[in-house]
Amino acid sequence: MADALAPSVDQSTLAPMPETLTITDNRTGKQYDVAIKNGTIKATDLRQIKAGDDDAGLMTYDPAFMNTAACYSRITFIDGDQGILEYRGYPIEQLAERASYLEVSYLLMFGELPTAAQLAEWTDRIHHHMTVRPSVQDLITTFQSDAHPMSVFQSAVAALSACYPEAKDVASEAVRRRQEYRLIGCTPTIAAYSYRHAAGLPIVEPDPSLAFTENFLRMLFKGEGEYQADPVLARALDVLFILHADHEQNCSTSTMRNVGSSHADPYASAASAVGALYGPLHGGANEAVLKMLAQIGSVERVPEFIKQVKNHEALLMGFGHRVYKSYDPRARIIKKTADEVFKVTGLNPLLEIAVELERIALQDDYFVKRKLYPNVDFYSGLIYQAMGLPTGMFTVLFGIARTAGWLAQWDELVQDPDQKIARPRQIFVGPARRDFVPMAQRA
Ligand code: CMC
Repeated sequence: MADALAPSVDQSTLAPMPETLTITDNRTGKQYDVAIKNGTIKATDLRQIKAGDDDAGLMTYDPAFMNTAACYSRITFIDGDQGILEYRGYPIEQLAERASYLEVSYLLMFGELPTAAQLAEWTDRIHHHMTVRPSVQDLITTFQSDAHPMSVFQSAVAALSACYPEAKDVASEAVRRRQEYRLIGCTPTIAAYSYRHAAGLPIVEPDPSLAFTENFLRMLFKGEGEYQADPVLARALDVLFILHADHEQNCSTSTMRNVGSSHADPYASAASAVGALYGPLHGGANEAVLKMLAQIGSVERVPEFIKQVKNHEALLMGFGHRVYKSYDPRARIIKKTADEVFKVTGLNPLLEIAVELERIALQDDYFVKRKLYPNVDFYSGLIYQAMGLPTGMFTVLFGIARTAGWLAQWDELVQDPDQKIARPRQIFVGPARRDFVPMAQRA
């Protein structure tokens, strides 16, 4: 309600608010006006703020990039407080409900939903880049059967760089496009080969006549006879791939951009992104959740585990997020997908432990105060396990899906005139210059 005592102000007579920040340096008493654009100041504008002639200028200290934007991006929008996720403006709920993974990959890459003809061409190009060279197949078979599938996946993606030297021409749009078809197309093939090699099964060649996830399920699970993917499972996988396709400047995407900023080819950049995704605080969390649930073992032991988490003796894996400070919208969709999958596969016995963990955590002060909610990884592993995949494969599936986002972000980076080779600064706090000490004189 308007304050009745406040003088009425004719807004049209007011000068526009200056979009600047005035900084007073109390070391020198000097004032600086720094431009504000899109709610941001340029970090390099701070370099003019110096305490003396030999001062290199003010920097910001921001380990883990808690409050530093490294790019302008038009791809993915997240409102972490409201629990909103949009790809190119489209809400994730609508895309998960109505689109396919390849349709979403096109959207991420080109900014608009494809027409039927555009989607047909995009699908055709990707499907015709699913085969991997014999040298990459051979590489996969050199690993021991107990090698972690993410290590094999990362090595095989890196090896593509050796197969396609033309990929180094990152300035060429046509060259970039070919590598994008290939990476999206052949990551499921690499993943399936490594799974079958580890399981001691013969590999199954991709079938480009099938839909993306149907083909993937066939490459994973085909036995002696013909294989027909269950449509509910194929669709569930498609939905999971949509949910994982992009998530703006997360750890692996930032890695893709960082490596890509040196003009490394997309395979080298994506292999580095796979490495970042591997970690248990990022994509590796889906595997860690299943290990955690198995360790807890029964619903009765949930309160004891929660006690350990609250004592900082363990993390509740699949909970918490750097950006979401409310329920992760992807987790909500995944829960629904899980119900559909379990109708086909039967209930995952670990589900009731997960549900109980969530129930207790959502009403416990420790989690409420810290705004810790289930994230995308809390339930996804339960679905993958119910489909018959070993835990080591879970993060690989995340990697297949995120390939579309990595490539869209990389393509945006390559074309962004503001970008240069990524190179953070440091604040040196080590020893001052000193002279070399010969071995005999060292303590
Ligand atoms: N279980 C228990 N406590 C937690 C958790 C958790 N999962 N996550 C955060 N906290 C606590 C943390 O100990 C800290 O408490 P205190 O203030 O007492 O020190 C507080 O919450 C703030 O945590 P933070 O570590 O500063 O938060 P962050 O933004 O740096 O970390 C995170 C985000 C995702 C790494 C973290 O929540 C975490 O480790 N979660 C478990 C791993 C996980 O599920 N990762 C998947 C993320 S979503 C998919 C993806 O990106 O791949």
